[in-house]
Amino acid sequence: PHYTIAVLPGDGIGTEVMPEGLRVLEKAAAKFGFTVDQQHHDFAHCGYYAEHGRMMPEDWKARIGNPSAILFGAVGWPDIVPDHISLWESLIQFRREYDQYVNLRPVRLMPGVPCPLAGRKPGDIDFMVVRENTEGEYSAIGGTAFPGTDREVVIQETVMTRVGVDRILRYAYDLAMTRGKKHVTSATKSNGIAITMPYWDGRVEAMAAQYPEIRSDKYHIDILCAQFVMNPDRFDVVVASNLFGDILSDLGPACTGTIGVAPCGNINPDRSVASLFEPVHGSAPDIAGKGIANPVGMIWTVAMMLEHIGETEAAAAIVRAIETVLATPEGRTRDLGGTADTVACGRMIADAL
Ligand code: NAI
Ligand code: MG
Repeated sequence: PHYTIAVLPGDGIGTEVMPEGLRVLEKAAAKFGFTVDQQHHDFAHCGYYAEHGRMMPEDWKARIGNPSAILFGAVGWPDIVPDHISLWESLIQFRREYDQYVNLRPVRLMPGVPCPLAGRKPGDIDFMVVRENTEGEYSAIGGTAFPGTDREVVIQETVMTRVGVDRILRYAYDLAMTRGKKHVTSATKSNGIAITMPYWDGRVEAMAAQYPEIRSDKYHIDILCAQFVMNPDRFDVVVASNLFGDILSDLGPACTGTIGVAPCGNINPDRSVASLFEPVHGSAPDIAGKGIANPVGMIWTVAMMLEHIGETEAAAAIVRAIETVLATPEGRTRDLGGTADTVACGRMIADAL
């Protein structure tokens, strides 16, 4: 098989971890017998903005085209561009243009990563957060009346469509069918948010009825956050609206130790449309340029991308190589208490593969 991968390293440590992701990608291609055409694009970073006054060229979509997948580093450099501009003019454009309506984050305790929760060992925590990525609470509908006066009123609407809700639920249930525990947990808040959230709950019930093999439960978002911290071993697939999923998908990786190792997919399950894969972490200006960033998040992201495009064996082998290297003290970067730098850690994972 042959794949085209659009490569956008972004800012800060995005540019440092991307080469390690590509190193492992090339190694996997050689080992598992596929070829990759890397298409590097020099936009969607703040240096581009400094030169052109925008994050991406007007014809960015034509330039990216429709590759097998898009591999992204991390975007943001607050000294040059405010974060809401760097994010909205880059990543959010991709999510919308390619209708990547699933945001998927594995939450898994890896060897060698100190778990902030007592008594957990690798294997105990292993679940997926499925976040709705295109509608819900993240709308631009609303406004301000009487601004700056005592009568000021600010309103922002939540949008849930039947198509939008059903397709994310279907993805979650289909995903659960591929996993051992056959368990879907839904995040709700129908006691307080009395219109959209009861609607969400109703669609969950309708979907659950189509999957009798799957055990379904639901928690209000507040207690669900507490459960993530107290009993993360209980979950298998957790499905949530845009806002609740955003919160859970940062909380999950935090419960397993560090965001430096966590991957993320912005997925359109229709494989004829490009999905975008990126590590969870940002550009980390505080450590950028030092060569000490943890490349595991980026490398695991490559594994997720390969799984999505159909190279499942290569994907599994990369995850095993990551686990092998993280289990050795000399393989770990500083954020995990080790001494390896970005390149050394990346090389070790490529060698283990
Ligand atoms: P961040 O994830 O960049 O950094 C948070 C903390 O974690 C920092 O102390 C950083 O040094 C550490 N860290 C992150 N990744 C690491 C790695 N691979 N190895 C070792 N340590 C790591 O989040 P922050 O500081 O809130 O945001 C910085 C910039 O990144 C902002 O401009 C923000 O908008 C952007 N950002 C972009 C994201 C994206 O591209 N999807 C996601 C999150 C933030
Ligand atoms: Mg977030």
